[in-house]
Amino acid sequence: GRPADLAGRRVVVSAGGTREAIDPVRFIGNRSSGLQGYALARTAVARGAEVTLVAANVALPDPAGVRVVRVESALQMRAAVLDALEGADAVVMAAAVADFRPAARNESKIKKTGAEPDPVHLTKNPDILAELGERRRDGLKPYPRVIAGFAAETDDVLANGRAKLARKGCDLLVVNQVGDGLAFGTPDNAATILVAGGEPVEVPRGPKEELADVVWDLVAARLA
Ligand code: C5P
Repeated sequence: GRPADLAGRRVVVSAGGTREAIDPVRFIGNRSSGLQGYALARTAVARGAEVTLVAANVALPDPAGVRVVRVESALQMRAAVLDALEGADAVVMAAAVADFRPAARNESKIKKTGAEPDPVHLTKNPDILAELGERRRDGLKPYPRVIAGFAAETDDVLANGRAKLARKGCDLLVVNQVGDGLAFGTPDNAATILVAGGEPVEVPRGPKEELADVVWDLVAARLA
C-alpha cells in the first residue's frame, strides 16, 4: 500500500469515451471502457484525495467515496471538467475524447430512403487537455497545478508522445501502445510515462491500478 500522500488534495479524473450525436439514436463513439480512469479514481481515494470523476458513457458502478459526474459528449465533458477544477490541485485526463463531432445533429432519426445517404459533416471539438495547459500558462482560473494526460499511440510511440506532451503543455503524459491485448477494455496496461523536464518512467505490464499508483506518485511529487 501507498502512503496517504494525497490527503487534503483535490483531484479531477476523466474516464470513458465521449459520444457525439448524429441523430437521436446514433453517435460516433470509441472503445474506451473507463477502466483506467476508474482505477485512477479508486487509487487516489485510497491515498487520501478528494476525487471528482467525470465519466463518459461508462458501464461501471460508481467507486466508493468518489463524486461521479456523468457526461456524454466532449462539450459536456469540457464543461464538467472546468466546473470540477474549481479549487482542484491536479487533473488526470484518462478519457478518450472525440476529436470531432457531427457539425449538426439531426433532430429526427435519419431515414433510409433508397437514395445515396447524405455525408456526415464533422467539426472540431475543443481539446480539453490542451486548453488546461493554456489556461495555466496564461494564469486563467480555474486551472490545476498538475496536469496529466494519456495518449494511445500505434507507432513512433515515444517521438509522438514527446511532441504531444509539449503541444498540450502538460506535466505528465502516459503513453501506451494500443494492441497486444492491452489498453482498451482489458484489466491490464503497460505504459511509458513522459515527464516534462524529467526522465521517462517505464511501467511494465500489470493491473491498471499499478499504473494509476505510479501516476499518483509522480503527481504527488510535483505537488509537494
Ligand atoms: O491528441 P490525443 O487525443 O491523442 O490526446 C489524448 C489526451 O488528450 C487524453 O488525455 C485526452 O483525454 C485528451 N483530449 C482532450 N480533449 C480532446 C482530445 C483529447 O482533453 N478533444
